[in-house]
Amino acid sequence: MVRVIHLLPPDGLDDGTVRVRGWQADDLDALVAACQDPEIPRWTRVPSPYTHAIGRDFLTRASDPERLGADAAVAIVDPADGTLLGATGIHRVGAPWPDEDSDLLPDELGYWLAAAARGRGVATRAVRLVCDWAFTVVGRPTLWLQAKVGNDASVGVAERAGFTYVETRSEIECGATVGDLIVFRRDAP
Ligand SMILES: CC(C)(COP(=O)(O)OP(=O)(O)OC[C@H]1O[C@@H](n2cnc3c(N)ncnc32)[C@H](O)[C@@H]1OP(=O)(O)O)[C@@H](O)C(=O)NCCC(=O)NCCS
Repeated sequence: MVRVIHLLPPDGLDDGTVRVRGWQADDLDALVAACQDPEIPRWTRVPSPYTHAIGRDFLTRASDPERLGADAAVAIVDPADGTLLGATGIHRVGAPWPDEDSDLLPDELGYWLAAAARGRGVATRAVRLVCDWAFTVVGRPTLWLQAKVGNDASVGVAERAGFTYVETRSEIECGATVGDLIVFRRDAP
């Protein structure tokens, strides 16, 4: 199993407008508040209802490289005041390619933003930071991303962050729903 979260600099990665950093125990209240937005479980595998117990369990795993395993989960924050803006990261870093009908891909980007942080390029910036890190520091050759059909905001993030369309997979389980997923890839430069 590849454990990569320790390859993240202690202060995270920063482009001057957005910072991605490791999760901290005191992110709990902001995390739970953000995840009350039904748009997050609608399009992701984030559980709903999102309780403090679920958030606490996530933060415990996300700050412990042993328990986090092959995931690299990071918080997206405002570098000016530390406000939690969202979440991103790479699932299953370096995992073997799944069976043809598995819905889980290796090296798969995921992300969500708190409702108040949307519409100003935060997700695109955060995904670019994580991609650059994954290519140059972690050494991944290809990153993958899946968006449910109809999630135009996420497709926009994928395209602005340099991902290209691969295929649309039908009848894939994602969170509480089964539906069609658009697969994107981005290769290391
Ligand atoms: C998907 C999600 C993260 C996209 O958020 P977003 O704010 O639309 O995405 P970005 O951060 O890239 O911002 C893009 C918007 O900012 C605007 N923008 C402003 N400055 C920008 C900049 N410098 N760079 C990019 N976009 C910029 C864009 O025009 C765009 O606005 P528009 O949506 O009105 O066209 C968000 O909708 C969300 O959290 N949804 C729920 C969870 C989810 O769907 N997750 C993804 C699952 S695959």
